[in-house]
Amino acid sequence: PLVTSAEMFKKAYEGGYAIGAFNVNNMEIVQGITEAAKEVNAPLILQVSAGARKYANHTYLMKLVEAAIAETGLPICLHLDHGDTFELCKSCIDGGFTSVMIDGSHHSFEDNIALTKQVVDYAHARGVVVEAELGRLAGIEDAVNVSEADAAFTNPAEVEEFVTKTGVDSLAIAIGTSHGAYKFKPGTKPQLRFDILEEVSKRLPNFPIVLHGASSVIPEFVDMINNNGGKMPDAIGIPEDMLRQAAKMAVCKINIDSDLRLAMTGSIRKYFNEHPDHFDPRQYLKPAREAIKGLVKDKIVNVLGCDGKA
Ligand code: G3H
Ligand code: 13P
Ligand code: ZN
Ligand code: NA
Repeated sequence: PLVTSAEMFKKAYEGGYAIGAFNVNNMEIVQGITEAAKEVNAPLILQVSAGARKYANHTYLMKLVEAAIAETGLPICLHLDHGDTFELCKSCIDGGFTSVMIDGSHHSFEDNIALTKQVVDYAHARGVVVEAELGRLAGIEDAVNVSEADAAFTNPAEVEEFVTKTGVDSLAIAIGTSHGAYKFKPGTKPQLRFDILEEVSKRLPNFPIVLHGASSVIPEFVDMINNNGGKMPDAIGIPEDMLRQAAKMAVCKINIDSDLRLAMTGSIRKYFNEHPDHFDPRQYLKPAREAIKGLVKDKIVNVLGCDGKA
């Protein structure tokens, strides 16, 4: 069935594991992810960005996820990723999503609270849960200046007031992760601010925390891209050990998109390189879907720890 993340997060918090939240844009991605989750009996969050919704259309995505539920019988939460306005959140809630993120992290603290609360009031009245964000995820350029990077991390002193005033169900925090395939400068040691996560969870007991920008940027797929005509030097992600540690702590939702993109692109590049005469899309989308399935299974079993928890 289509469910909210409330029960998933409660069990994940208590069990010391995390639910994978995977971004979806098309049928092969939905199939690869959900077939993997089915095989290891994992609860699942599928998330749709504003860009995904523009690309594939709300109804198509909705129906693809409904089809996946019918095929797998898994509980799946359908979530809006990085909603930036009340109107977008409302449209997804009205259209059947069970969870939305309102990302007011670029606003002032007060404006973030006001916008988040507006979405929470609308969502909760309709049985939908809400994720918000405090602090800004740093890009690699932002990390050059230490004081600037510091300013972007979530300030633990703000979290209780934010959660109390908004009534939000989960909170994304900034502890050094970032979106995309270039998360750390080459030659530097990847670091996350686990002290901030620890402090946040002390102030918000039993409250689910969300980690964005959590792809590992798996070297196998970066190499596959670079060995088959691609050019992604210095692509670096979050070490898996750090994700395992976060999953054991208050982090209940770990967002993964870039790894799916790399797996799909690597597989297709390799296929084209090895079969320059093939032109049936099914031929190259099949290994791409298989690569996504393998990747998601590995994440669930070896990183998130949510296998067997559906
Ligand atoms: O947080 C960003 C996600 O990876 C979605 O990216 O906005 O390009 O669909 P997108
Ligand atoms: P990655 O770019 O690390 O996959 O992060 C995805 C994400 O946070 C989606 O909201
Ligand atoms: Zn994100
Ligand atoms: Na956890």
